[in-house]
Amino acid sequence: MAKPIFVLNGPNLNLLGTREPHLYGRATLDEIRVRCEARARTQGREVDFRQTNHEGELIDWVQEARLAAAGLVINPAGYGHTSVALHDALKTLEIPIVECHLSNPAAREAFRHHSYVSLVASGVICGLGPTGYELAIEAVCGLCASS
Ligand code: DQA
Repeated sequence: MAKPIFVLNGPNLNLLGTREPHLYGRATLDEIRVRCEARARTQGREVDFRQTNHEGELIDWVQEARLAAAGLVINPAGYGHTSVALHDALKTLEIPIVECHLSNPAAREAFRHHSYVSLVASGVICGLGPTGYELAIEAVCGLCASS
């Protein structure tokens, strides 16, 4: 059985659909999960899709991905801008990492312009809403295939 693609979501993304819809849209995280699963199937892959509001849990899942995942898509949400510990955990991975954001942090407040995740990601997709997740799945599957 091929290893799944881990899709890890950070804090407050459980509120998608009602959280600042002018920024993040109306799709719920569950709807995004369904789209990710469908897109992964077209690539012959499965996804393991998770969300947490806790930094330590996110780091535990990144560590789990070292052995259990073929590739990683991560929307670190606010932790992307703050977490050296998440950066360090991601650095231990030898699988492709694609960072994904619904909004475009570069076009927002200055404190969102730096990402500790981008420094260790193979690529970054942002500003395209839920479609970005699907593109991230496709990209990470392509990177898995070529590695
Ligand atoms: C986000 C962008 C982050 O700056 C923010 O903290 C989030 C969501 C996005 O998907 O656009 O929580 O990661």
